[in-house]
Amino acid sequence: MGRQNLRPSYIEEGTEEARRQREAIARLKERGDAPATYYIVTMGCQMNAHDSEKLVGILEEIGAVASEKEEEADLVIYNTCCVRENAEQKVYGRLGYLKSFKKKNPRMKIALCGCMMQEKLVLNKLLKSYPQVDLIFGTHNLYRFPELLETLLDSQGRVIDIWEDKQEIVEDLPSIRKYPFKASVNIMYGCDNFCTYCIVPYVRGRERSRRPENILAEVRSLVADGVKEIQLLGQNVNSYGKNLENPITFAELLEQVNAIPGLERIRFMTSHPKDLSPELIAAMGRLDKVCPHFHLPLQSGSDRLLRAMNRHYDQAHYLDMVKRLREAVPDISLTTDIIVGFPGETREDFLETLNVVEKVRFDNAFTFIYSRREGTPAAQMPQVPAEESKRNFEELLAALSRIGYENNQKWVGRTVWVLPEETSKNDASMLSGRTAHNQLVHFTGGRHLLGQLTPVTITEATAFYMTGVLEEEAVRE
Ligand code: SAH
Ligand code: SF4
Ligand code: F3S
Repeated sequence: MGRQNLRPSYIEEGTEEARRQREAIARLKERGDAPATYYIVTMGCQMNAHDSEKLVGILEEIGAVASEKEEEADLVIYNTCCVRENAEQKVYGRLGYLKSFKKKNPRMKIALCGCMMQEKLVLNKLLKSYPQVDLIFGTHNLYRFPELLETLLDSQGRVIDIWEDKQEIVEDLPSIRKYPFKASVNIMYGCDNFCTYCIVPYVRGRERSRRPENILAEVRSLVADGVKEIQLLGQNVNSYGKNLENPITFAELLEQVNAIPGLERIRFMTSHPKDLSPELIAAMGRLDKVCPHFHLPLQSGSDRLLRAMNRHYDQAHYLDMVKRLREAVPDISLTTDIIVGFPGETREDFLETLNVVEKVRFDNAFTFIYSRREGTPAAQMPQVPAEESKRNFEELLAALSRIGYENNQKWVGRTVWVLPEETSKNDASMLSGRTAHNQLVHFTGGRHLLGQLTPVTITEATAFYMTGVLEEEAVRE
């Protein structure tokens, strides 16, 4: 089957492509010149991080091992992000360093991938001014990494492979998880929302959902492999499944994932408020494994700006969603994304955002100063002075941290279940992990607790994390 075949966008055509890549992996294993060590830098969101896990899976399968030091690696990969400009500047800066490392280590190959590679201007700049880069590929052909690596080794020249868009989804490539007990699963790719500030729809392509049976099979096999917590990923999970041959809603998918024996926790990201259905809210209240946490990006509290952002909801709708979520799950924790300094933002607009923050009392928020992205509609709108945005931004941070602190005090004295993820660098008996409500908790335990849901009594709370003691100790005291 060629790519030209007329075929609806939802068809997952994993098998043939995946087989070709597996063959390339087998050949790479046999040859003596494949990279023996690698170093990956992940610069973007969870999807980007999950893509890196796939690259690591492939590299480990061909026998490469992670290098402690970037300058000593045979293969350095930057998995880039372009959602804001400073992420891009970082890449150019690091490429400068790498040039000198490469002089000392002639075996080193440099690869760039991720969202930034899908921007034409960036690609031209890299081709013209950064000859130290050996391999460039994009977001739509990440799964071709084994073949591209082979081509690079054969050619001894530069290899560039960028595709404009791709509708098929390739399944079933190896991937390595950061934690044995926690994993991410893509449920959809791309985005069709075209918020006017955002570059993601241009670099990740059109929205397409994976078939539920493939998602469920992946989750089942992860659980069989020891995974307890699953994070379902998509740019707008609330519109999952709409374009599938047999349409299914996100709430229905959650129901099916919830039924998988052995799985303990389900999280998901990200939800768009315009597509948040009563059905999903009801499912949140009913399904026992779905964590009582909802990330609902607000972006702005001003109706005028929400319109200019093309977000398709207003402040009243947002607050209504919050009210319904709290009715369904009384102690639900709510987090959000907020942009300050969108073109045309006045003090009044900003105060509307603060107003929502005070009303909702978010548990946490990712806050961003607007970054102008070439090619998006907002780039053409009148920009606001940086000093003004900076001042508003500081005010927003202060409000969020005051509210976060107050919210977290309510947990002091309560016992919560924590999934310990890591030990502290300085003290191996100090563990940290997350509660079902997604709060970060530090407590004294032992390595044997890693990956085991553990009851912890909270003793202290700051705006950003909490500390606690093992429940047994609390009881003994
Ligand atoms: N699909 C998700 C988020 C994707 S990007 C959603 O719609 O919620 C993550 C966050 O980056 C966005 O929620 C937004 O707050 C921020 N962001 C996106 N483009 C931006 C820009 N040009 N400047 C500043 N922040 C931006
Ligand atoms: Fe960007 Fe909007 Fe799509 Fe989120 S929903 S990825 S903010 S265009
Ligand atoms: Fe994610 Fe950045 Fe791409 S936020 S989708 S890695 S532009």
